Amino acid sequence: MEPVRLAVVGAGLVGSKHARLVSSEPASSLVGICDVDSRRKSVAERFDVPFYQDLEALLAERNPEGAIIATPNGTHSAVAEVCTRNGMDMLIEKPIANSVGEARQIVQSAEAAGCQVLVGHHRRHNPLIQEARSIVQGDTLGRLVAVSITWALLKPADWYEVDWRCRRPSGGPVMVNLIHELDVLRFICGEIRQVYAQSGSSARGLEVEDSLSITLSFDSGALGSILASDATPSPWSYELTSGENPYYFHTTENSYYFLGTQASLALPKMELWQYADPARAGWQHPLEQSRRKVAKADPLVLQLEHFCRVVRREEPPLVDGRDGTRSLAVALAVLESIDRKAPVELA
Ligand SMILES: NC(=O)c1ccc[n+]([C@@H]2O[C@H](COP(=O)([O-])OP(=O)(O)OC[C@H]3O[C@@H](n4cnc5c(N)ncnc54)[C@H](O)[C@@H]3O)[C@@H](O)[C@H]2O)c1
Repeated sequence: MEPVRLAVVGAGLVGSKHARLVSSEPASSLVGICDVDSRRKSVAERFDVPFYQDLEALLAERNPEGAIIATPNGTHSAVAEVCTRNGMDMLIEKPIANSVGEARQIVQSAEAAGCQVLVGHHRRHNPLIQEARSIVQGDTLGRLVAVSITWALLKPADWYEVDWRCRRPSGGPVMVNLIHELDVLRFICGEIRQVYAQSGSSARGLEVEDSLSITLSFDSGALGSILASDATPSPWSYELTSGENPYYFHTTENSYYFLGTQASLALPKMELWQYADPARAGWQHPLEQSRRKVAKADPLVLQLEHFCRVVRREEPPLVDGRDGTRSLAVALAVLESIDRKAPVELA
């Protein structure tokens, strides 16, 4: 089978990573890179593909079948509009857009043009997350009563040297990082009905928050909490514990806890805790720990392979535009709750 011809739009931190994968994976071939910044030409040179500052020209001359949009969040809808007009299927980096209105515009235009949208919530492709989902949604845990996440790490100071990362709504841990946790929670635990959040920004003193406490209610009746900070030297975050991305220092801790009526599960070590004798339950009786083995795989590679199958119309997107819009709406509700100092209901 011929590799799927893909273009990458936006060749910054994430776009250059996509470009490397697209050019190295057998399922895809990189046909060109577009970036408004001429300095990014070096990325195209690295992969020996043509560089464009004009997306229309790339699409006309290189004839890709799909595009990976890895530009800043606020530009996704304008870039997607050009792609849709040219019949491109799109892998759009998360969040799908900065506002629900922009996201809906992307979805409506793509649906009208028959273009597929896959939103880059890549963790859903991780076998670890898929196994956790099947445990939580299966019988092992009983009914989920609560979930707790600690997301705490230290971003290097130069990470905040890029202007959009310091400003609302694109920058800050909610839209950049915690949208991943919120999306994973929706995937594993079901829809989120209400959020209540408080934030602090005293560690960095930027416009965007650096620490948060978020309370969640799920449609199922389960409760959730996320304690988060990107300004602390802590080993407890998905990035550092999961080993998903070798860039991050790896710690052998857990950072997600799912609590059910029959058992509890800690991620990413996949530790299941349940009573040794189910007939003798209660805090005085012995709990037993077992571990589920999950094969390691790079979710960005799995996401790319999936996108190629989406372009070939072999599979529907795992995270389509509507689904990505829902995760965006939850993240925006967190910011709204912080501003209003009140719980926010999700429609
Ligand atoms: N999936 C993930 O884990 C993950 C991680 C980080 C960032 N992201 C997302 O990826 C996107 C990019 O983030 P980043 O950190 O790589 O940003 P970045 O600032 O490093 O790179 C963005 C690039 O896009 C270019 N650009 C801006 N407007 C453009 C336009 N209209 N057309 C073409 N190029 C344009 C910029 O010149 C820059 O080179 C964001 O949506 C971000 O939220 C996803």
